[in-house]
Amino acid sequence: MDKTTLEALEAALQSSPDNAALRTQIAKGWYSYGDYEKAKAHFNALVQTTNDIGAKKDLARCYFQLKNYSPSIVICEEILEGEKDPEMMSLHVESLIKSGQTQQAVEQYQEFHEQYGWFDEGLEKQLKISTQVSDLVFDEEEDDLFLEKPELDFSGVGGMENVKEEIRMKIIQPLENPELFKAFGKAAGGGILLYGPPGCGKTFISKATAGEISSRFLSVGLEEVLDMWIGNSEKNLHEKFEIARRNTPCVLFFDEIDAVGSKRSDLRQSGGRNLINQFLKELDGVDSQNDGVLILGATNSPWHMDSAFLRPGRFDRIIFVPPPDEKSREAIIALQIKDKPTVDIDCPKIASKTKGFSGADIKLLIDLAAEDSLRASMKSGNIVPITTKDLLKQVKNVRPSTKDWFNTARNYALYSNSSGLYDDILQYLDL
Ligand SMILES: Nc1ncnc2c1ncn2[C@@H]1O[C@H](COP(=O)(O)OP(=O)(O)O)[C@@H](O)[C@H]1O
Ligand SMILES: [Mg+2]
Repeated sequence: MDKTTLEALEAALQSSPDNAALRTQIAKGWYSYGDYEKAKAHFNALVQTTNDIGAKKDLARCYFQLKNYSPSIVICEEILEGEKDPEMMSLHVESLIKSGQTQQAVEQYQEFHEQYGWFDEGLEKQLKISTQVSDLVFDEEEDDLFLEKPELDFSGVGGMENVKEEIRMKIIQPLENPELFKAFGKAAGGGILLYGPPGCGKTFISKATAGEISSRFLSVGLEEVLDMWIGNSEKNLHEKFEIARRNTPCVLFFDEIDAVGSKRSDLRQSGGRNLINQFLKELDGVDSQNDGVLILGATNSPWHMDSAFLRPGRFDRIIFVPPPDEKSREAIIALQIKDKPTVDIDCPKIASKTKGFSGADIKLLIDLAAEDSLRASMKSGNIVPITTKDLLKQVKNVRPSTKDWFNTARNYALYSNSSGLYDDILQYLDL
């Protein structure tokens, strides 16, 4: 509508000021013409005299155009009390942004999002937030960047017979015999949480689980998931689950999972709760199925885990991975020296002298002995194999690393064991 027409209509309105339809037409005309002052005056008059919600929305838009953000915010609030109009939500948030109240804008945005599931891509970009957990277009080659196909299987893991058995029973068998498990009313799903002192094979056996069933292995660490943009961490986490779901069977392994499922207050702030909730949703398979996804988690600090993770259907098998006992140490030593030049190694003897050693400690011991032999070999020009004596000589150079862990664990086991979570520790420590 051009200006002349609008002025003619104004004249007509003079003689019949109660003609709301005419006034609406004029108000909209001025608005599209870009004269927001005139439009505002008419919309205002309409709001005063009629109960026209449309006029009210347009009035808010006029204020916004006139860079008068406080009234536009107030009107948006009023409208939204009665009606969940997405445009008004956008206008509300945008008014906050334009008036420099970015933090309030973020909060308001998230409130609307949580209450009404509303989202606005443009605003999310402006506010650097992202609430949408979208199924990004995927690319098989890109998936392969994250996925491993480990050669390592259970035969390469020394000892840990209990853990192997639990993993077989809880996640491998249900995958291989779904009908049988159904018949006995055993639902597949849920994951296994491994906990214990560092270096005792939690990560190692998780990887071997994938090798055991010739599946893929996806290892996820917190640092790959956390992102400073609000909402992005949830999205990243979802994406990891999706990669596993697209590539079944797949062992999805969360290393040092206590950092995600943390009770620590630093994560509680900065939206950590949202990440925990997203994690629980993924574990529960709320939006997508986890068939064929074997979920394993490992932690050295189970006391930092949010207890919501430990409910049925989530990590409902919680397995203590102790330092290897003598028999296991023997097996680990035998495995670790297998491909190195040695003569007549007395594995039982070394095992008996390495109480309290973790698998990693044993590895270190053997590495140290191997270095010495290598040095000697270079000096003599012939291969000088590792001997039992060489290994025993190194025992005193390696400090069993699991003691510190038990000092901490003992306290939790004694004083915060109401759910019996740490019974295995108590039993191990013979307390
Ligand atoms: N049972 C085991 N058999 C063979 N090697 C082991 C075993 N446990 C630990 N190791 C060795 O110690 C290293 C560290 O173990 P890891 O699984 O990373 O410990 P954790 O995850 O419990 O801290 C492994 O990479 C492996 O070389
Ligand atoms: Mg580990």
